[in-house]
Amino acid sequence: MKITFVGHACFLLNGASNVIIDPFITGNPAAGAKPEDINADLILVSHGHADHLGDAVAIAKNCGATIVSVFEIANYCGRFGAQTHPMHIGGSNSFGPVQIKLTPALHGSGLPKEDGTIEYLGNPCGFIISMDGKTVYHSGDTGLFADMGLIGKRHPIDLALLPIGDNFTMGPEDALEAVKLLKPDTVIPMHYNTWPLIAQNPEKFKQEVERETPARVVVLSPGASYEL
Ligand code: NI
Ligand code: MN
Repeated sequence: MKITFVGHACFLLNGASNVIIDPFITGNPAAGAKPEDINADLILVSHGHADHLGDAVAIAKNCGATIVSVFEIANYCGRFGAQTHPMHIGGSNSFGPVQIKLTPALHGSGLPKEDGTIEYLGNPCGFIISMDGKTVYHSGDTGLFADMGLIGKRHPIDLALLPIGDNFTMGPEDALEAVKLLKPDTVIPMHYNTWPLIAQNPEKFKQEVERETPARVVVLSPGASYEL
């Protein structure tokens, strides 16, 4: 499976199926891609913040992909004419050669309406994605939680995609604890350096994780890929 870091929390997984996660491309200073270049079968949306929901509806309508998310976000995207598949935390389903399971995330989920109030879009989530004999965990935006140990025990993780930006999510020190709980083979950090507020040094995170755990950390620049 080829993993491409589009930037921020957006990854493209190309294998027996093509999956894009949190397709924030328009307005993402790190993204080199354009929404119209994306060709996916599935679009996974972890929560209803603009830097994750992003271009999901436009991409779905352009290439015919199905948006997979919690019920509330699926309902929201369906209102704009996108094809959707609602799920919820703890549930799993197969989409051809891909299995998707929704995991908990400690975060918020809502979009500002025209009157300035927030439309709430259910609970945020993470994803366990299994394809081509490999398992990838994308945590979504989240703080550290002890049940990450249960996630890693139930689903041995080949690759974990974890935020390290701090302020809105785990910072590097809590992400190190997350690695100890999840026990993945490989970690790719995300959700950092997109803006000054979430500036972090991923090489320092790599050094500390590789010193304290058996996991390997791969730091990808936006646009770069990793073969899993
Ligand atoms: Ni968020
Ligand atoms: Mn975010």
